[in-house]
Amino acid sequence: MVRTASMRERAAMYNANALKVGLFGANCSSGRSATKVPERWTASWPDCLSLARMADEAGIDFMLPIARWKGYGGDTDFHGATFETITWAAGLLAATARMTVFGTVHAPLFHPLIAAKALVTADHIGEGRLGVNLVVGWNEGEFEMFGVAQREHDTRYDFAQEWLDAVKSAWSETNDFDVEGRFLTLRKVRAFPKPFGATRPIIMNAGSSPTGQSFALRNCDAFFTATAGSRTSLEGNARRVNEIKSKARVFGRDIDVYTVGQVICRNSQREAEDYYHYAIIDNADWSAIERMLEMRNITPSSFSPDEYAAKRQYFAGNAIGGYPFVGTPDEVAQQLAGLSKAGLRGIAVSFVDYLGELPYFCDEVLPRLVRLGVRHS
Ligand SMILES: Cc1cc2nc3c(=O)[nH]c(=O)nc-3n(C[C@H](O)[C@H](O)[C@H](O)COP(=O)(O)O)c2cc1C
Repeated sequence: MVRTASMRERAAMYNANALKVGLFGANCSSGRSATKVPERWTASWPDCLSLARMADEAGIDFMLPIARWKGYGGDTDFHGATFETITWAAGLLAATARMTVFGTVHAPLFHPLIAAKALVTADHIGEGRLGVNLVVGWNEGEFEMFGVAQREHDTRYDFAQEWLDAVKSAWSETNDFDVEGRFLTLRKVRAFPKPFGATRPIIMNAGSSPTGQSFALRNCDAFFTATAGSRTSLEGNARRVNEIKSKARVFGRDIDVYTVGQVICRNSQREAEDYYHYAIIDNADWSAIERMLEMRNITPSSFSPDEYAAKRQYFAGNAIGGYPFVGTPDEVAQQLAGLSKAGLRGIAVSFVDYLGELPYFCDEVLPRLVRLGVRHS
């Protein structure tokens, strides 16, 4: 049977689950946990493939990679080995049947017409299951490596607007067209085939600045925010989600809001908390964490020793992987269901050892989410 791929079906990831659950960061070594534990994720291709097949079979809705070009160093060289995300997505889409797989594109590093065609190729391989995460970049070292100068912060999003408009034209225009912009000059552009089903891949962005957020609200189908996890109350999350959705409505757009988090789910609360402390705190790769803090201008010389220690601890425990969901299947399921009740459309989670931990999560947490009324499968 030939699949249809309306924008509504694409955004719903072809299923009726109210709360979409995805996997975040599995294309990068160590995933979302800067830890030295030996079971940390290597992100090898055989492991990525096994993970995607297992997740697809179990009803996980999507996989979201991270476009990272240069590792952070430290004892484990956190994110030292990373797969390019569009080619990674294409391989996983070929090996799966149901889930959406995102490719992440740095607009300033990819020519828009090469990106448009690479994304169309992956979208046809997945019969309409490709998603796109559009990022403008923030990591100076990566841009230096490419010999590309970072634009001033807000101008990055002006460029991204022109870039995305060109990509969308390549996906929809059937006649040759020109782009005559502030940044791009493209002549007599012709691009076939169009995306699968004559629609286009869903597009997400996760800008945290006001400019980044407004770009997402104007252009994207989904907005990922790290700050609407269950860190605060249900009411707090609901307020944040409503605020984003109502801002999008000003642009006449209905946007899905997602968040990210790390999951450590075990038989008992004690066991889950012990493993969290063992893997995320006691065995943290502090030199990689300090390097990441330094890239954000957080150094021992800019804060008092106590403040710096608190930031270091917070970054390891909460910020890299997102809010930690640590506990029994009941506890984790309750917290995830709470996100849905706050209006979130989904969450992309990470595990220390994705392949080792996903079966327990799928066997124990997903059925509870069905019983709690936020998923069908
Ligand atoms: C869920 C999520 C995924 C992201 N993925 C990437 C990525 O793959 N590559 C990247 O360079 N930045 C990524 N980012 C960073 C954002 O795109 C953005 O640059 C950052 O939040 C700073 O926001 P700003 O650009 O509005 O200043 C991600 C952020 C989040 C919350």
